Amino acid sequence: MHSMIDLFAGCGGMTSGFASEGFDPQLAIEFDLHAAATYAANFGEDHTLYGDIATVKASAIPKADVVIGGPPCQGFSNLGSKDLNDPRNQLWREYLRVVKKANPKVFVIENVDRFMKSTEFQLLLAEADGGSLKNYQLSFGHLNAADFGVAQRRKRTIVIGSRIGKIELPHATHARNPEIAGLKKWVGTRSRIGRIPEKTTSTSLPESTVEVFGQVVPGTFKGLDIHLGRTPTPLSLERYDHIPPGGGRFDLPDHLLPRCWREKPTGTTDVMGRMRWTLPSHTIRTEFFKPEKGSYLHPQWDAAGKHRVNRPITHYEAARLQDFPEDFLWCGTKIQIAKQIGNAVPVGLARAIAQHLKQYL
Ligand SMILES: C[S@@+](CC[C@H](N)C(=O)[O-])C[C@H]1O[C@@H](n2cnc3c(N)ncnc32)[C@H](O)[C@@H]1O
Repeated sequence: MHSMIDLFAGCGGMTSGFASEGFDPQLAIEFDLHAAATYAANFGEDHTLYGDIATVKASAIPKADVVIGGPPCQGFSNLGSKDLNDPRNQLWREYLRVVKKANPKVFVIENVDRFMKSTEFQLLLAEADGGSLKNYQLSFGHLNAADFGVAQRRKRTIVIGSRIGKIELPHATHARNPEIAGLKKWVGTRSRIGRIPEKTTSTSLPESTVEVFGQVVPGTFKGLDIHLGRTPTPLSLERYDHIPPGGGRFDLPDHLLPRCWREKPTGTTDVMGRMRWTLPSHTIRTEFFKPEKGSYLHPQWDAAGKHRVNRPITHYEAARLQDFPEDFLWCGTKIQIAKQIGNAVPVGLARAIAQHLKQYL
């Protein structure tokens, strides 16, 4: 079994994928109480370090085969400094400090797609080029979760650093047009949310709390507990009803357009979008429960108007599109759980990376 450390672990999307491939988590660091509680509920409180990575003592960092997780980017300004002592680069300094102590064979950094244009990325390249990562060879690029069988399009930067010989990024297993690439076809939303009841369970979480890290937090919730609906206004419902699968705000008749959109007829094309059953969803962000923020309307909609599900996806559906297992446990309020789901690495993408690394370890 390969040991691993997850930094900036969130609720554990990345760990979930690695653990399903037999990796053994030894330490996870996360400073958001509810995300850390969710992580602990699923993978064990014993190795979950709830706190700021900067406060973690060197003695608390074990050796590990693999370190995963990427420091959140502070910004993408070219004015940022490549100096590790610049306070803006503190999270990177912390990341490198853990890598140095854990001495992994391989580390994996996941980050937003713009990451490769950031100063933080330049800093990383500089560290591998004679700096503290000089023993590691880097591979990097963009991976789309949908290309690995996840029912969601989500493009992320992945960096693999290895001191056991260069490890290229994994190759796609799925494609939008498989007949061209000779791969499997992209997986549609139906495969993950097609069997979830159209009717939501409730508008609020069950009343339940759990004690973790000596504190009481809402949880744990599972499955249909987080199949939460909202109470849209009649106007919102009328809007949703006009939007077919693959459509969006441009399908709204003039009289239903909110003023801001009427005055801004171009740009932000995926807002108020409706998913399709046969294609992966667009990226699930932290506010997936607000249709005006993206393409989050439930995919069920027929032209005849007989069978339409006029609501955004629920927390449970979002978690399934992020490839979390059905019985994954959640802690926190509705907003906090949504943040954990939207911030996560899709479990299926993490699993594909873990599977790939196993061949080398
Ligand atoms: C993008 S999320 C990680 C998602 C995670 N990899 C997953 O797959 O679920 C980044 C996380 O870093 C945490 N974080 C940010 N700064 C931190 C710090 N200084 N110490 C510990 N955790 C931190 C945030 O609370 C957030 O949960």
